[in-house]
Amino acid sequence: MSGRVHLLNGPNLNLLGQREPEIYGRETLADLERRSAERASTLGLALIFRQSNHEGVLVDWIQEAIAEARSAPTAVILNAAAYTHSSIAILDALKAFDGPVIELHLSNPHRRESFRKRSFVAERADGVIAGFGPLGYAVAVEAAAALLAARADAA
Ligand code: DQA
Repeated sequence: MSGRVHLLNGPNLNLLGQREPEIYGRETLADLERRSAERASTLGLALIFRQSNHEGVLVDWIQEAIAEARSAPTAVILNAAAYTHSSIAILDALKAFDGPVIELHLSNPHRRESFRKRSFVAERADGVIAGFGPLGYAVAVEAAAALLAARADAA
């Protein structure tokens, strides 16, 4: 299957490996990129893997995906980290995107503090993958491939 997947990571995920390892584990963001890239390459997908601590930068990157989706099958996988629970700007950008959207988290926010139960990303996501740690990154790429294939079949 051909297609592009933007796997975008939000604030503090650059600290993975050192940051609250009892919650987020010991793998670094580079490890997660390697896992995701391996799965994307097996599935024949081009992977754009990025991280930013800045809300507007994440919006800019979603807008890049919006532009690409006009000419090529494109999916967005988003671990918006804390912006998941606060960002209407990210939700609005996702609403302008025409393609599969997968919300991703390493931890299961529903087992944590109550403020993590609210997700703005979920209001636009086709599906949510949470609580599987680093495995979730490979699963999310797999899910993106399946959703892109379903869209191609329906077209
Ligand atoms: C997270 C969960 C968020 O609640 C938190 O703010 C993060 C990481 C996760 O991957 O489990 O920074 O998105």
